[in-house]
Amino acid sequence: LNLIALSLPLQAGDQVVVADDEFPSVVQPWVSLQNRGVRLVRVPVGRESDRNRLLSEAITDSVRVLAVSHVHWRTGGLIDLAALKKVCEQHDCHLIVDGVQAVGAVAVDAGMADAYCASVFKWLLSGFGLGFVSVSERLTEQLTPVFRGYANEAPSHDISYGHVNYPGIYALRMSLDYLQSVGWEHIHSRVASLAQRSISSLRERGFDVVTPDEGHAGIVSMRHPTSTQIARALAEQSIFVENGTSILRVSPHFYNTEDEVDRFVDAVARSV
Ligand SMILES: Cc1ncc(COP(=O)(O)O)c(C=O)c1O
Repeated sequence: LNLIALSLPLQAGDQVVVADDEFPSVVQPWVSLQNRGVRLVRVPVGRESDRNRLLSEAITDSVRVLAVSHVHWRTGGLIDLAALKKVCEQHDCHLIVDGVQAVGAVAVDAGMADAYCASVFKWLLSGFGLGFVSVSERLTEQLTPVFRGYANEAPSHDISYGHVNYPGIYALRMSLDYLQSVGWEHIHSRVASLAQRSISSLRERGFDVVTPDEGHAGIVSMRHPTSTQIARALAEQSIFVENGTSILRVSPHFYNTEDEVDRFVDAVARSV
């Protein structure tokens, strides 16, 4: 994202739109551009189900970039890439997507975005220190690489400038071989069904699930004022969840079972 942000010819008066609850890594690459007069517009998103509409409404002819997570790190909401692509095209705005919480959990058409980037540590089970970005031809033509090396001597528009993390790529290759052998359709449908089971069971117990029924991938989140205590109680039972700002988040993968989801929901119910 930083390579794209710093290589784009943004000028004073241009706007970049982000949701105000975005993961910091999606926001920070644009912050320093404010020194050049670029305006960073942070769109408040109250309810997850309003996210697509609110972001779409913020896109005007002055907006050059919409930077957005494909799946929201905290709420688990999955954006409507096709709808946002359409709005961005109408206003000649670049759609730049962070897919860290999506790739491997749901089928992704990276070509929907002008730039689609992701690290591989989460649903691809491939360790840290490696990421990839897919850049559209239209966007590539506009990039002036912020870093240059043997791989992108001027006048190249390619942002890849030198040697890359080959050990990481070998690890990714082995993980992808394994995941492929499990089968992507199987993985995606298991992730969808375990997430739906988590959402439904938590709702049945009366919990405030913030992940929308329609429009989610693998992350399921619930809001609770004692989320820190709940997370601690779960950890004592070897159930590991993410906790932050009163939101408890689980990410069941294809290898988890229905019984494990039920055990998690029972444990949450017992710990409140
Ligand atoms: C949406 C999102 N982007 C980026 C990251 C961080 O990834 P990295 O620092 O490997 O780019 C995370 C999680 O750590 C994330 O949830």
